[in-house]
Amino acid sequence: MMKTVTCTAPVNIAVIKYWGKRDETLILPLNDSISFTLSQDEMCAKTTISISPTFKEDKFWLNGKEESLENPRIQNCLKEVRRRASKRKHESGVEGTLNWHIHICSKNNFPTAAGLASSAAGYACLVYALGQVYGIEGDLSSVARQGSGSACRSIYGGLVQWYKGEEDDGTDSVAQSIAPPEHFPDLRVVICVANDGRKKTGSTIGMRRTVLTSRLMQYRIQESVISRTAAMKKAIKEKDWSKFCDLTMADSNEMHAVCQDTSPPCVYMNDTSHTVAALIHQYNDVKTTSGNVNHKVCYTFDAGPNACLFVPGAVVGELLGLLMRAFPPSPTQNTDTYITGIPIQPTDLTRELKSLAEEDGQPTGKLKYLIHTKIGDGPRDLTGS
Ligand code: DP6
Repeated sequence: MMKTVTCTAPVNIAVIKYWGKRDETLILPLNDSISFTLSQDEMCAKTTISISPTFKEDKFWLNGKEESLENPRIQNCLKEVRRRASKRKHESGVEGTLNWHIHICSKNNFPTAAGLASSAAGYACLVYALGQVYGIEGDLSSVARQGSGSACRSIYGGLVQWYKGEEDDGTDSVAQSIAPPEHFPDLRVVICVANDGRKKTGSTIGMRRTVLTSRLMQYRIQESVISRTAAMKKAIKEKDWSKFCDLTMADSNEMHAVCQDTSPPCVYMNDTSHTVAALIHQYNDVKTTSGNVNHKVCYTFDAGPNACLFVPGAVVGELLGLLMRAFPPSPTQNTDTYITGIPIQPTDLTRELKSLAEEDGQPTGKLKYLIHTKIGDGPRDLTGS
C-alpha cells in the first residue's frame, strides 16, 4: 500500500522586495511584498512524495542527493501540514495515513541558491505536494512561508501580494493573488544570468544583518516601502506600465542600498549587474523621448548579480539584440545555448540603440546566458497525468 503524488511549483520574482523579518522562527516580514509568478515551462521545482506503512523512516532527497530531514524549516512545514491533516481527519472521521513514514524527492531544473529564487519554488512545491498527499484544503501560503518567506508567493500564479500581517502568531501573514497572469498581456521576463553559483551571503543572514545594523532600513520600513507599495498597487490596477517600471527599479535599488548600508555590507550586484541596469536606463530614455513609454523595460535584482527584466513582448527581440551586442556570447557558445526559452526574434535596432551599446566603449562584465520566459500559473499536481 502506498500513496504517491508529483507536483511542480514556479519561481516568483518580487517587484516590491521582502527584506527583513519581524519574527525569524515563524518567518514574518517587516513589510508587504509584491511579486510575479514565472512560467513553469522554463524554471520550476518538482517534488514527488510517497507515503507507505512499509517505510521504516522519513527520507529526503534534494537534486538526487540524500539530505537530512533535521532542517527546522522543513520540519516546521511537515508539522504544520500534519497538524492540519489530523484536524481534518478528526472532523471527517476518515481513517488517515498520518502515522505512515514519508519519502520526499525534490529537484530544481535551474541552479540552486544562485539568487534565482530556488528556495521559493522548492518550498512552495514541497508544501503543495504535502497538501495533495494529505488532502488539505484552503490556503497553504502560510505553511510555505515557514519554509522560506518568499515561497509563500509561489503558491499562487500571476501577480501576488504577501501581506506582512499584524498578528504575533503569523495567521494573517499570507499571500494572495492580486491579478491573473494575463493582467499585463504579452509580458516577457528575461533573466540575465551573470553567475549561477552559490551566493556568498544568503538572504536569511543578509537580512538579519541589515535589520540589526542599517539605519537606512528604518527609513525603508517606516516610510518609503509603505508608500511605494501603495503606489505599486495603484499602478498595477490602472495598468500604468511606465509607473510600474519606475517603481520596480526604485524598490530594487533601495533594497540594494540597505544591503550596502549593512555592516559588514552585503554586496550582491557586480559589474555586469551595473552595466545591465545602466543599459536599461539608457533604453528607457530613448523610449521616453520618442513618447513610447509603454515600451519601457525594468530591472530588479534579488540577493545575487542576475538582473530580472520585465519586457513588453513588442520590444523583446530588440532588447535581446541589445543585450547580445553588449554581452556577446563567447565564441564557443551558440545562440541556442545562450538564450533558453522562446528564441530571439532578430529585429533592426534603431540608430539610437546602436550608438547606446557603443557609447561608453566596451561594457564591463559578462553574461553566462539569458533565460527568456513569461508570467505563469501557480503549482500543479501532475499525479496521473
Ligand atoms: C531578495 O525568502 O530567500 O529574494 O525567508 O530567510 O528564506 P528567507 O529568505 P528568502 O528571501 C528572499 C529575498 C529576496 C526578495 C524577495 O524575494 O522578496
